[in-house]
Amino acid sequence: MSTSETSYWRVDFLLVLYVGILHLSNTKGDIQPLIPGIMVFGDSIVTVGNNNHLTTVVQSNFPPYGRDFMNQLPTGRFCNGKLALDFTCENLGLPKYPPEILNKELAKGENLLVGANFASGGSGYYETTARLYNTIPLSKQVEYYKEYQIKLVDVAGLSNATSIIKGSIYLVSAGTSDFVQNYYVNPFLYEVYTPYQFSDILIQAYSHFVQELYRLGARKIGVSTLPPIGCLPASITLFGKGCNECVTKMNSVAQYFNKKLNATSNILKAKLSGLNIAVLNVYKPLYNLIQKPNDFGFFEVRKACCGTGLLETSFLCNEKSPGTCANATGYIFWDGFHPSEATNKILANELLLDAMSLLS
Ligand SMILES: *[C@@H]1O[C@H](CO)[C@@H](O)[C@H](O)[C@H]1NC(C)=O
Ligand SMILES: *[C@@H]1O[C@H](CO)[C@@H](O)[C@H](O)[C@H]1NC(C)=O
Ligand SMILES: *[C@@H]1O[C@H](CO)[C@@H](O)[C@H](O)[C@H]1NC(C)=O
Repeated sequence: MSTSETSYWRVDFLLVLYVGILHLSNTKGDIQPLIPGIMVFGDSIVTVGNNNHLTTVVQSNFPPYGRDFMNQLPTGRFCNGKLALDFTCENLGLPKYPPEILNKELAKGENLLVGANFASGGSGYYETTARLYNTIPLSKQVEYYKEYQIKLVDVAGLSNATSIIKGSIYLVSAGTSDFVQNYYVNPFLYEVYTPYQFSDILIQAYSHFVQELYRLGARKIGVSTLPPIGCLPASITLFGKGCNECVTKMNSVAQYFNKKLNATSNILKAKLSGLNIAVLNVYKPLYNLIQKPNDFGFFEVRKACCGTGLLETSFLCNEKSPGTCANATGYIFWDGFHPSEATNKILANELLLDAMSLLS
């Protein structure tokens, strides 16, 4: 075993131990989940299928998406299998995944007790990113959340609903689409703002969003950082100027954004009493995987599994895409923008460590 492999297993072991202890301390007879539920907001990294109910090109409810998921079912997750979010739900002992809010069959009754998923592929902090792709902007996700609260009171009663609202984790994942599907391809943005100015605009939107969630009762927020956006296979193809390497300039922007995200989260925590925010650093573990894939059992960093692996995502990644790999376990990326299930499993363990402060 190499050193990083050893340290990976150590992290995994500590995690299982720690979560195990938390489980025990919560146990009254049978196993209780660590938190009542998760409310999920943001983009394609965490969506479980809201776009299936919209007219948009940002879709993933067809094969080969989902081919390694339960029953080989494409669900609207942007992955071959489980998202990091799915692994996190399992790690926290939730009895089921929070349902996507636009699915009328699923998002009702008892299913609402574990939270709900409001996220939408192609959405972000910048309102017009979602509008560009006709997906659900954060402002609309919040409207759906308000409707959810009313339904929750119907299902659980006011007192139980209040404790679910207060005790749940509010997971926020946004920003990647704002840059990769909007800023860098949109002259109305890149000719007007530097990417750093654009970051500041996004951070302001994040700050407003957190205050809105707080006003609605959220007390535990987990916000994910940007990934190394310059290392996404599609970014290298589109913006790498022919080099087969991570686009350093884009990664620098992501690091700037992440620093501001952390600082702003600290300010919000200090300002809003009773609010806890954990910044979930997805940048570092993903970058480490990309630098040393072999240490973690991966062999392909540059190309995604789906299609040529250089670009395809959403409708471009479909059953007819030539070249799709037979087995995605050795691939860090499933499509041009999204990690594979194998990567998500590793990320979920790391992110849970970052989220520990939300679990007590
Ligand atoms: C509230 O939760 C308790 C404990 O889980 C349960 O026994 C009770 O039936 C719930 N109340 C309503 C109105 O559903
Ligand atoms: C985030 O802020 C906290 C508190 O100031 C600090 O301890 C931590 O190192 C920061 N993390 C990053 C990634 O900047
Ligand atoms: C993919 O490869 C992994 C590791 O070699 C193996 O464990 C797994 O069963 C394979 N999956 C499929 C669907 O063939």
